Amino acid sequence: MTQCWRLDTISQSVILQSNNNQLPSVIYWGSKLPDSENITDLALCTVHDLNCGTLDAVADLSVAPLHSATYPGQPGLTIKDRQGQTLWLNLCFDREQLTDTDDTSELTLHFIDKALAISYQLIIIADRQTNMFVFQSKVSSENPIVIDWLAAPVLPAPHNSQHCIEFSGRWCGEFQMQQVPWHTGIRMRECLLGRTSHEHFPGVILPCTGTTNSHGYAFGLHYGWSGGHKMLAEELADGRRLIQFGHATANHSEPVTSAESAPLYATFSATGLNGLAKTFQQHLRQRIVKFPATEKLRPVHYNCWEAVYFDHDTSVLFDIAQKAAEAGAERFVLDDGWFINRNDDTTSLGDWFIDEQKYPQGLAPLISHVHSLNMGFGLWFEPEMISIDSDLYRQHPQWLLGPAEQQQGRQQLVLDLSQPAVCDYLFERLSHFLTQYDIEYIKWDHNRVLPIVDHKQTIALYRLLDKLRTAHPNVEIESCSSGGGRVDFGILKRTHRIWLSDSNDALERFWMQHNAALFFPGEITGSHIGPAHCHTSGRQLPLAFRAWVAASRHMGMEMDPRELSDSDIALIKKVTNWYKTNREWLHSGYILRLDSDDDAVLGELQIAADDSRFVAFIAQMTVSNQVLPKPIRLTGLEHDVRYEIALYNREQSAQTSRGNPALKSNKLTLSGRVLMDRGIQLPVAFPATLWVIEGKRI
Ligand code: GLA
Repeated sequence: MTQCWRLDTISQSVILQSNNNQLPSVIYWGSKLPDSENITDLALCTVHDLNCGTLDAVADLSVAPLHSATYPGQPGLTIKDRQGQTLWLNLCFDREQLTDTDDTSELTLHFIDKALAISYQLIIIADRQTNMFVFQSKVSSENPIVIDWLAAPVLPAPHNSQHCIEFSGRWCGEFQMQQVPWHTGIRMRECLLGRTSHEHFPGVILPCTGTTNSHGYAFGLHYGWSGGHKMLAEELADGRRLIQFGHATANHSEPVTSAESAPLYATFSATGLNGLAKTFQQHLRQRIVKFPATEKLRPVHYNCWEAVYFDHDTSVLFDIAQKAAEAGAERFVLDDGWFINRNDDTTSLGDWFIDEQKYPQGLAPLISHVHSLNMGFGLWFEPEMISIDSDLYRQHPQWLLGPAEQQQGRQQLVLDLSQPAVCDYLFERLSHFLTQYDIEYIKWDHNRVLPIVDHKQTIALYRLLDKLRTAHPNVEIESCSSGGGRVDFGILKRTHRIWLSDSNDALERFWMQHNAALFFPGEITGSHIGPAHCHTSGRQLPLAFRAWVAASRHMGMEMDPRELSDSDIALIKKVTNWYKTNREWLHSGYILRLDSDDDAVLGELQIAADDSRFVAFIAQMTVSNQVLPKPIRLTGLEHDVRYEIALYNREQSAQTSRGNPALKSNKLTLSGRVLMDRGIQLPVAFPATLWVIEGKRI
């Protein structure tokens, strides 16, 4: 007997098929099929022949291929009994549930192994508003079981594809894209670091052959989890390809009676990688990030970290706040160094009490000053951590995560959040500050990897964040983890901004932002104007470049504003004013990546949700090989519509620019066809120039 299920979003379909009550397989995922598609024939057309030298049946590439089906690849579900024996599962169809709302269809398929009293659920949400599929799998058992691996679930990968695009990274170098060719066998990315990590962002793109940013077919997946995670991309020896994500192997080391994967966000695009980016950005905006009811337009931040580090002197901070406000800041974030004895990064994490030597009258005078400058106030915490040299550790050494003898990271250890007393303490301490002071924002940091990988830590963190948000619903939270070590849809369900990287080097930041935009929209991606001499790269970059790179996301500043001349302040003001005038449409629009024909140039186009206007940010990253700038081809426009375009910062042409490309002095009116197919000529630019091209639909 064959059963089929069909789910559609706006432009995609997923078809599942189950034979003889066994776990179903995704037999189609791609562009939306005609309503009249004959699903029975579709199912028949996916049936494989059988060759010699194989088993007598081709094992299904199901949503959770099982050992017991003699499946020839990595299983999608491995369960052991308490004695460590792998269980020979026979999961059979039990029932289905379909719930429809205006925007979504949610299908849950239940399978059960009656003999072992184990059940498996596959949940698929087809989100018609955001064009996303969200998959999740769950297992429950009457008796405690050990879950070695639970895929969320297994999905087929395209054959007309040469490689996967993965994301790797490091501190100050997040979101590095790498192409990994398909070969027979498995490609595994496992993050055992206990956080999302700089090293292994839990997302992958499967582009079909020839796909670019703007054209072609691609599949995108993101596992929305902030703990250890694993991805397997596999080409079976028989040629079939698949992809699976789940929690890291060691996550469920103890017997449990239920377990679930995190949501797997999956989308297909027929319009290149930008189609994926649009869906991820939109889904995050509409379904994941929940701003407080009192949501403001994303205020320009000032963060004092790279200005003062641990050296908090209130008169200096008063001065800095004043200058930051003059330059256009609307929120002042007091970073690390404000709590008791925290004079460097070797002590005091956990002691969330004000340092009365630095702040004899508490934080009230600074907060009032900040408010008098019409800025909101934000405060840095690193709640999950503990220093050996802290009162907290002296009082509660047993609150540590992992063994007492372990490698420290940034001279610190981690608290075991699964102990209720730990979270009670943290809730009380943070609540105390949020109640006593008018604080609208927390920068929530997490500066080391975990000594052990355990999903309990992540779940307890989510609970703590949820509890704090319920108690203080108007407070926004930024997710920072030595920069972008915890950037994912799981944490963003509870937070509102990501500190993408500790690198304020605008050249580095630009490409990181550019790559992260495949998943994350501008309004939640923090970006700051750093000091003239970048502290993490040693580079010196022009202020205009630093300012525009910051303005292209959720803008902020982090330099010591006392280093700024009057003309610097005027320049920053001009850019912050531009940001303030445009943020509303930018932060409800989409970031699309341009296909650049010059390796020295990286560009993106941010288009309003109603397509009425756009801005293109084109960065000259290094010196081009050729003497003349190559045309820049825009994207995401309508071919037959005419647009008026103007170069906003034309004064930034290189001193060597002595010709007269039209945009140097004029506006132009051109069709989308010309802008996207022929491309436009920009003036000669020195490296570290960010062109700002504004466009309006006529
Ligand atoms: C981490 C963060 C920085 C800063 C410091 C403070 O490194 O990424 O932005 O907050 O901690 O110690």
